[in-house]
Amino acid sequence: MTDQIKPGEKLIDRFGRTVNYVRISVTDRCDFRCVYCMDEEMKFLPRAQLLTLEELATIGRAFIELGVDKVRITGGEPLIRRNVIKLFQDIGQLPGLRELVITTNGSQLPKLAQQLKDAGVKRINISLDSLNAEKFKRITRTGNLKDVLAGLQMAMDVGFERIKLNTVILKNRNDDEIIDLVQFAIDRNIDISFIEEMPLGVIGDHDRAEAYYSSDQIRVDIEKSMTLIPTTESTGGPSKYYKIPNTETRVGFISPHSHNFCDQCNRVRLTCEGKLLLCLGQEHSVDLRRVVRGNPGDMDRLKQAIRDSMTIKPKGHDFNLEAKPIILRHMSVTGG
Ligand code: GTP
Ligand code: 5AD
Ligand code: SF4
Repeated sequence: MTDQIKPGEKLIDRFGRTVNYVRISVTDRCDFRCVYCMDEEMKFLPRAQLLTLEELATIGRAFIELGVDKVRITGGEPLIRRNVIKLFQDIGQLPGLRELVITTNGSQLPKLAQQLKDAGVKRINISLDSLNAEKFKRITRTGNLKDVLAGLQMAMDVGFERIKLNTVILKNRNDDEIIDLVQFAIDRNIDISFIEEMPLGVIGDHDRAEAYYSSDQIRVDIEKSMTLIPTTESTGGPSKYYKIPNTETRVGFISPHSHNFCDQCNRVRLTCEGKLLLCLGQEHSVDLRRVVRGNPGDMDRLKQAIRDSMTIKPKGHDFNLEAKPIILRHMSVTGG
């Protein structure tokens, strides 16, 4: 179906970037409280404000009819939303979709990995910041390493095309585990991406500028004992990938601070309350919940609202670790 999309139907912004990737957050709630993502005490949205699973599927369909071929389901933790598998099933069977993927903390995978695979999920990204149970607890506050490792194992047993670990490195917290985490990925034939912390929301736990650990520093650390060969591979995400010779593993770096990638941006985000965010690092948004609820069944109206949103997609983020966060929403609202 993607080939049949008329030129005027594609989502192209003012800077000539084509949007072919939507990230859909299905809940702002999570069973973890990662220190870089959330405050210890969080107020979550009242359930009535959330889009229903049907509304989420309708918006997903509108995007696919507009040429989007990659959908990532995120949260909060997407797998704690009740009946969320139904959404994967509904979106997974839409013609025109090339990739249905998920970003998860892994805790629910022992239960749900097989159902995700059956619904058409190809790749899974699992957050993992430490292999040490105590340190893992200190970073996630409420998470258990054991559950996540069991989730990862289940995902490997079920057999997804690719599994990627996402790791946020914080100085003096887990920078001593970089090599262990890479080796852990190599031993399991999976990928790993290191992410620079982004200043989204007030977190109260640490000073983000002090905790900053750059991708370049991580590369230097890895190259002390391993060879990294740059590749031009892309998964359509912002990771820059390296291969480690004689392994299946790709090591990615997501470096919004040190290597801005906004000029290549191909994505938008839908929050669980139906706000279409045109950039992770800016507030420009369109209220799609109002469009869907105000015009039930009117797909043309919804698609037009999405097309119109392209005129306000900003050029890029203005992240600054030294200043107070200008974006008050936490990462858990958008799932990254
Ligand atoms: P694939 O490349 O498809 O595997 O996924 P991904 O790495 O883009 O997605 P994932 O959900 O695993 O996100 C990893 C990290 O990248 C998260 O911390 C995201 O916040 C970050 N990220 C993804 N897209 C963007 C973006 O457009 N801007 C910024 N600044 N960060 C992003
Ligand atoms: N900066 C960078 N990455 C973050 N994540 C959550 N909050 C932040 C932040 N402030 C990561 C999670 C997960 C991914 C979706 O985003 O670890 O892997
Ligand atoms: Fe939950 Fe992911 Fe945020 Fe951690 S980073 S609190 S796992 S949403």
